[in-house]
Amino acid sequence: MGPVTMTLRRGELAAVMGPSGSGKSTLLSLAGALDQPTEGQVLVGGIDLASLRPAVLADLRRRTVGSVFQDFNLLPGLNARENVSLPLELDRVPLHEARAAAEAALGRVGLGDLAHRFPDDLSGGERQRIAIARAFVGTKSLLLADEPTGALDSVTGERIMRLLRELCDAGLSAIVATHNASHAAWCDRVLYLKDGQLAGSPDSVSAAGGA
Ligand SMILES: Nc1ncnc2c1ncn2[C@@H]1O[C@H](COP(=O)(O)OP(=O)(O)OP(=O)(O)O)[C@@H](O)[C@H]1O
Ligand SMILES: [Mg+2]
Repeated sequence: MGPVTMTLRRGELAAVMGPSGSGKSTLLSLAGALDQPTEGQVLVGGIDLASLRPAVLADLRRRTVGSVFQDFNLLPGLNARENVSLPLELDRVPLHEARAAAEAALGRVGLGDLAHRFPDDLSGGERQRIAIARAFVGTKSLLLADEPTGALDSVTGERIMRLLRELCDAGLSAIVATHNASHAAWCDRVLYLKDGQLAGSPDSVSAAGGA
């Protein structure tokens, strides 16, 4: 990937747009420490991820970063509530707290009544909302969402963007890859990628002095 410099502030909601293959998913993977850059640095809270020991990096990925992947990655053997509470349970949050947090998160994405359902018995859009609930449950500070509204009808898509906006107004930072300009309009700024490079007007990107 070419030189992309961006800084994401606390509470900021940024959209990444660009054609298929332009590097949106790659940028999200690098920001979430799910992949390592061949060049350049990724700083989280001022710390270069490359300087962290693997165990610390694993903690960061689990506790600090929530991801919604293009293919959701839900566990088919767990119901919706269990899928959402799993990251908290792995982080040794007491079971009753993890369950309550998972139910609250499912309520926020409009799936409060379907918490006991298994992924295979839900629609694509419902599965997507479980993945979104799982990504922000608990005390995450960075949410990375790869086309989180892709499988959703326009009303539900807008509803998810409004929720992301609320979460960011409450202090979360998020990067959302999207092809949908009206969803990008919920964001503080839009980064346009083309062939792995930043394109777009200087006003819409932070191209200097950042992490
Ligand atoms: N692990 C990898 N190793 C090498 N090249 C990769 C790898 N993953 C993706 N690529 C390539 O990097 C480029 C950017 O891919 P990426 O998945 O980031 O695009 P994208 O903008 O998310 O596209 P889409 O809109 O289709 O999801 C593509 O040319 C892709 O083939
Ligand atoms: Mg992609």
